[in-house]
Amino acid sequence: MAALEILTIPDERLKQESLAVERFDDELRSFIADLEETRQHGPAAVGIAAPQVGRFQRIVIVDVSNTRKPVPNHGYMVLVNPEITHWDGYEIGREGCLSVPDYTGNVIRATHIRLKAQNPDGETLEYEMEGFEARAVQHEIDHLDGMLFIDRVVSRRTDLFQRKVYQKGKGKKGKSN
Ligand code: NI
Repeated sequence: MAALEILTIPDERLKQESLAVERFDDELRSFIADLEETRQHGPAAVGIAAPQVGRFQRIVIVDVSNTRKPVPNHGYMVLVNPEITHWDGYEIGREGCLSVPDYTGNVIRATHIRLKAQNPDGETLEYEMEGFEARAVQHEIDHLDGMLFIDRVVSRRTDLFQRKVYQKGKGKKGKSN
């Protein structure tokens, strides 16, 4: 396993749309292991998407089980070809991103979602989720469509915040997607 390099803005590749995964083989599972290592490396993030490491396929990992304030969650999830089938409610919340290291921002997201996704073996699973976990999944799926949270802030003047230091390691979980 190896931690991979993360693309950061203004890299144009972050705007690329990712393609569906069609082959569920050992190469895919090996890539997913590297993606997970990358998520946990450096400023540990609650989520990561394949295009953030330059692989333009519809794969995301989300795990919000380690946030400082406990939130409802499904633990570690690998979502392949995820598709949100239902949205409900909305709220504003602060987001960060490994690909946008210098800023956080306020973004409106659905509070409840239902989704379908395949696991690394190609089996289709359905999930229902809410709150911070639902937010993290919506953020990661945006990456698959070439969208970053800074594209969703209502106003760049009032809803973007400069980070002083992007702290490494412990204590920052729950801040980045
Ligand atoms: Ni992100």
